Amino acid sequence: MNIQLASGAPGARILGLGAYRPRRRVTNDELAQVMDTNDEWIQTRVGIAERRWASDDETLVEMAVAAGGKAIAASGLSPDEIDLVIVASASLRAPIPGIGPQVAHRLGTGRPGAFDLNAGCAGFCYALGVVADSIRAGSARNALVVGVERLTDVTDQTDRSTAVIFADGAGAAVVGASDEPGIGPVAWGSDGDQYSAIEIAAGRSTMTMAGQAVYRWATTKLTATLVEAMEKAGVGPADIDVFAPHQANLRIVESMTKRLGFPESTVVARDIVQSGNTSAASIPLALTALIESGEARSGDLALVLGYGAGLTFAGQVLVLP
Ligand SMILES: CC(C)(COP(=O)(O)OP(=O)(O)OC[C@H]1O[C@@H](n2cnc3c(N)ncnc32)[C@H](O)[C@@H]1OP(=O)(O)O)[C@@H](O)C(=O)NCCC(=O)NCCS
Repeated sequence: MNIQLASGAPGARILGLGAYRPRRRVTNDELAQVMDTNDEWIQTRVGIAERRWASDDETLVEMAVAAGGKAIAASGLSPDEIDLVIVASASLRAPIPGIGPQVAHRLGTGRPGAFDLNAGCAGFCYALGVVADSIRAGSARNALVVGVERLTDVTDQTDRSTAVIFADGAGAAVVGASDEPGIGPVAWGSDGDQYSAIEIAAGRSTMTMAGQAVYRWATTKLTATLVEAMEKAGVGPADIDVFAPHQANLRIVESMTKRLGFPESTVVARDIVQSGNTSAASIPLALTALIESGEARSGDLALVLGYGAGLTFAGQVLVLP
């Protein structure tokens, strides 16, 4: 007897985006008052002018619900039409339970499949790949992906090489079935031999990062993944309206942009200047900022790439909602 399979949709696309930026802005000058750093070093080496830090009441769940609620509202769906929720985060303090089910419940989505996914700063793109394939396979009809971080909880605030970089926030996307593909095949992978390059070592509560090694890896190895994502989607650099890589370091963004040779008209996300590195939240935060400012428009073709702890990487081509 053959097992019956679900019939999926021809494609999946993003129906709505949402973001939550914590209230508290922290400038470089403020950091320079408590550690041996300065605005010039941070702006030159990392490109950050300010970042947002979450207050006690801005928990992972609260920020995920705020961003997820906005994405659902923007999608035009009602919450009970969502049947899959994935929360991507690398800063969960308590592994049990995962926060996906609670976020889904708080958003009034009924009883969807709900879980957390940790692929470091690549989490949002990993989750997007999973939900797009789930919708095409018929396992889900509409899905919510949230990237949420409180990296300040896992950063050693006396370590100037990480404390100036990592920040907090949440971004979300609702993905639904579509006749035309709006999310290209994911190009993903991992370099697990470098697992200790960004880690919270056993017995520790804060992260350490081999900054130069990560910088070298990001600027030399990941161009091929960006090219792979475009090739899988059947497009080239000249077709890309918006380039929104993970906002890890402005110099990495500029290096990737130069290597790929986009046309002048391609809009490049530089949300790191205002938001710092928000790991799994950085790509939806950056896309939302570009749409709100009018720099990116509905229907634009975007290339995204997440990368980070693991080491992990994932990217795809998207049509913006
Ligand atoms: C972390 C990073 C900004 C450091 O920049 P860098 O140019 O590699 O700097 P180095 O680590 O070589 O340090 C250079 C000097 O600056 C100092 N320094 C480090 N952080 C500093 C800060 N916030 N302010 C001032 N000086 C600082 C170092 O102590 C070192 O001083 P020394 O020469 O006296 O020893 C950079 O390596 C980077 O961005 N890497 C990628 C990290 C990343 O993207 N991670 C996220 C992936 S998800």
